[in-house]
Amino acid sequence: MPAHDHILILDFGSQVTQLIARRVREAGVYCEIWPYNAADEARIRAFAPKGIILSGGPASVTEGESPRAPEVVFSLGVPVLGICYGQQTMCLQLGGMVEGSSHREFGRAFVTIEADCRLTEGVWAKGAREQVWMSHGDRVTRLPPGFRVIGTSEGAPMAFTADDERRFYGVQFHPEVVHTPHGAALLRNFTHGICGCRGDWTMGAYRAEAIARIRAQVGQGRVVCGLSGGVDSSVAAVLIHEAIGDQLTCIYVDHGLMRANESAQVVKTFRDRFNIRLIHRDASDLFLGQLSGVTDPEVKRKTIGRLFIEVFEEEQNKLGGADFLAQGTLYPDVIESVSATGGPSVTIKSHHNVGGLPEGMRMKLVEPLRDLFKDEVRALGRELGIPEEIVGRHPFPGPGLAIRIPGEVTREKADTLRQVDRIFLEEIRNAGLYDAIWQAFAVLLPVRTVGVMGDGRTYDQACALRAVTSTDGMTADVYPFDMGFLTRVAGRIVNEVRGVNRVTYDITSKPPGTIEWE
Ligand code: XMP
Repeated sequence: MPAHDHILILDFGSQVTQLIARRVREAGVYCEIWPYNAADEARIRAFAPKGIILSGGPASVTEGESPRAPEVVFSLGVPVLGICYGQQTMCLQLGGMVEGSSHREFGRAFVTIEADCRLTEGVWAKGAREQVWMSHGDRVTRLPPGFRVIGTSEGAPMAFTADDERRFYGVQFHPEVVHTPHGAALLRNFTHGICGCRGDWTMGAYRAEAIARIRAQVGQGRVVCGLSGGVDSSVAAVLIHEAIGDQLTCIYVDHGLMRANESAQVVKTFRDRFNIRLIHRDASDLFLGQLSGVTDPEVKRKTIGRLFIEVFEEEQNKLGGADFLAQGTLYPDVIESVSATGGPSVTIKSHHNVGGLPEGMRMKLVEPLRDLFKDEVRALGRELGIPEEIVGRHPFPGPGLAIRIPGEVTREKADTLRQVDRIFLEEIRNAGLYDAIWQAFAVLLPVRTVGVMGDGRTYDQACALRAVTSTDGMTADVYPFDMGFLTRVAGRIVNEVRGVNRVTYDITSKPPGTIEWE
């Protein structure tokens, strides 16, 4: 492993810990998130961080069993930044005091800067009143020895504290969220100015390292990769191909439920342009046959997931087996989580995606994207020369159009939906809106309505359009198109797609709706 500068983030269970890592990496510094209790002294020393960030968390340091940072964090001689709960436990552990308060601050708040310190250099000046984002009940009420107050807020007289000598900093607010407008600059001051990180985490460097790692892991072995045409599997495939060439074979299982021209584009891009060995298996008859008569969304999802594995295994057996299975697993999937609530969560939908599939297979895994966030995967894809249509593509669910056709799925309905979807996306691209939207697609509704075209009566299907903004798919807002845009799209759909005579726009946010209809 080349000697990148490392920052260690110890997680106390905050909802926004991942954002700390993203801000740090955006500044070009490699970092990892570990649960606070998975970090013993030896492991931390071996990681050799240039600085440590203690995240926020849902607990209260005033409670008996609440989490504490490992003592080594404060004796390692590296800078420490405590955020929210992280600030509180740091102050308490270093001899200060924290108390509960009836004055809670949630959301937008302001800190007044009372003194300068290295963390505020070039960002905030003494006397300024700065907007921040807070979420706390407890607050520091007595400073540990060596600390000074840098900033105060209405609810926290010691909202910002510092010991420049030991390079320990504590903030009650969250610099990692966009609602703290100068938060990224403060974090950069920490990583670059205070910890002395060089910003050597670039996608160019990552590409070379990842290739070396793949070669070392795979040796002369053979690798199969399930390609879906989505961003993650595409980037994984191209990267692995760059490392081991024809030792890689990609399998593209075409379930007949892809969008217009998508299968052709996958074949063209990966086989023709990147010269990757690609098996394109048209299994649409099998999938559509088995989906015949199926209307329940969960049965649809499970049927497609099961067939996917069957077909993938069949193709893989034809190859005579392989030693490794490549998966597009990302960092958010592997960060060990600190459970704030315990208990299992309810299954809303059983997700299927190509990367997560073949559980029963006895191959070793190659997961070259395990260290990366989605936006880093996109950056790596661009670095590898993967076309923007693929790298910048909206997410598309594994079960494809099947979960956008409520009721029974047929080839005819899928064909109709493809046309509607294509027109909607064409108009979105023409209007320059594609990148501002997280996901946009059409849904074919199982209802027929009466319309009039020319002098005649129609009795055709209705469709819905859906477009949302989101940062991670967990929550979503409706995209506020103007009416002129929507009516133009509706006009084109009804005129150009035979069998559809009505268009609606889905204006449900998530929650309470989900993004997909099934
Ligand atoms: P929902 O509908 O749960 O979707 O709000 C959240 C995000 O997940 C995508 N999605 C899937 N992705 N396999 C996938 O790979 C699936 O089975 C699946 N179901 C939903 C959805 O498109 C949205 O981006």
